[in-house]
Amino acid sequence: MREYKIAAIPGDGIGPEVISAGLQVLETLAEQDGGFKLSVERFPWSSDYYLERGYYIPTDGLERLKQFDAIFFGAVGALNVPDHVSLWGLRLPIAQGFDQYANVRPARVLPGVRSPLVNGKDIDWVIIRENSEGEYAGNGGRTHRGLPIETATETSVFTRAGVERIHRFAFELAAKRPRKHLTLVTKSNAQRFGMVMWDEIFFEVANDYPDVTTDRELVDAVTTRMVLKPQTLDVVVATNLHADILSDLAAALSGSLGIAPTANLNPERVFPSMFEPIHGSAFDITGKGIANPVATFWTAAMMLEHLGEKAAADRLMAAIEQITAAGVFTPDLGGTATTASVTEAVCKALAQQVKKAA
Ligand code: IPM
Ligand code: MG
Repeated sequence: MREYKIAAIPGDGIGPEVISAGLQVLETLAEQDGGFKLSVERFPWSSDYYLERGYYIPTDGLERLKQFDAIFFGAVGALNVPDHVSLWGLRLPIAQGFDQYANVRPARVLPGVRSPLVNGKDIDWVIIRENSEGEYAGNGGRTHRGLPIETATETSVFTRAGVERIHRFAFELAAKRPRKHLTLVTKSNAQRFGMVMWDEIFFEVANDYPDVTTDRELVDAVTTRMVLKPQTLDVVVATNLHADILSDLAAALSGSLGIAPTANLNPERVFPSMFEPIHGSAFDITGKGIANPVATFWTAAMMLEHLGEKAAADRLMAAIEQITAAGVFTPDLGGTATTASVTEAVCKALAQQVKKAA
């Protein structure tokens, strides 16, 4: 029996609701599969925990997390903690501490889901976000607070090693997809140092991947291309901040932020990777039981694939697509289903697959 140790960090807002739903579906899959088992430990690290104790992650927290095969993360962000404190308290220390430099964000319009674009069915993208440096490097400072001469800097950091490894990762991924096309997104007209280096290293790495076709786009221009010519994009590689923005647009164009998943990968597997829905805490619907669990199911499928359970991952994606095709939608997708009823529908679809195969 293959056994995987999963650290679940439900976090804030709707995080606990969607993570519980995700664990229920994962349990169902493991039971049906019979070949693997998940041992899940829940970590209570959240903004409430922080307000009680003054920290999100205990001193030995990362050391403990290191023992796990993967991290299943809900959301972080609360109304009573400044966002930069919660982010730098919980999510960034894990992503940066475990060198999860490749953030993978697939976007596609699932069956039955309506895109705001007329040609939304053409969306089949993977956005690769550099996840360890750039605009999120935390390199800056603030002086003379409150004075007229108050000054703040927020300097992006781009390293050759950091840029080269994300490009290589993007090329490897693009090479495995049917269209084998990779678009480089930067802003190298206005930003003439880091962004120009991004461009140069991209084309150096491109020499090692003759099968992958490439093009480049400025970040502002690529937004119009995403909306007007979605079929011309396949894999996109961009910096931490640029890809953050593009992935929200991609999620909206795919029908809802409630379905968009992400994987924070440490491709070398020195550290565990982290899987999460990209929607965040969503205070407006917290506790109402209507959070869309599909993003969490999709990221669970990405987690299974990363763990080597490709068959289970495919089964889960098929079950998700079966229920979206049948119109089992939470309110963000225009339906009346609840987190619980979507979860039940997915578990039922999984059970049907087993029956069919028998
Ligand atoms: C994301 C989110 C985060 C980010 C927020 C919560 C800080 O928007 O994962 O896309 O910008 O990294
Ligand atoms: Mg974002």
